[in-house]
Amino acid sequence: MPAVHVINGPNLNLLGAREPSVYGAATLDDIKARMAELCAARGVDLVFRQSNHEGDLVDWIQEAGRAGAPVILNAGAYTHTSIALHDAIKGAGATVIEVHLSNVHARESFRHHSFISPVARGVIAGFGAASYVLAFAALFDEEPRKI
Ligand code: DQA
Repeated sequence: MPAVHVINGPNLNLLGAREPSVYGAATLDDIKARMAELCAARGVDLVFRQSNHEGDLVDWIQEAGRAGAPVILNAGAYTHTSIALHDAIKGAGATVIEVHLSNVHARESFRHHSFISPVARGVIAGFGAASYVLAFAALFDEEPRKI
């Protein structure tokens, strides 16, 4: 079984400090620790990354595609702007679950459109850090457990 790749986009390095009323109190390290636990329990490796740079995200999606690895992707604001990420997912043939901490559909209208959703296996939004846990559960078709 290839590693699970969790890819995080811009500003997600600030989780915990960034608008906690929107994004919650969990830091990216907290989320990483929870994903590591879930992967260890499943006996799969975890590749957990964050970048503020669009091209890094493209490279990592391509890498996951080459490895045949599933991706849990929170592309942050690039969700709403990036044709490059859309093309990367399509081109890499990677299985991608799109996640968001916040319910983007209950927020500003510019967050309602996603370039990721049409090429994602599914979308999970609005459950805070648990969105990642739910995505993991969806990948492995198991009963979710809150972070
Ligand atoms: C986000 C939602 C995006 O609209 C926003 O730009 C983010 C985080 C989320 O996880 O809720 O950076 O992807």
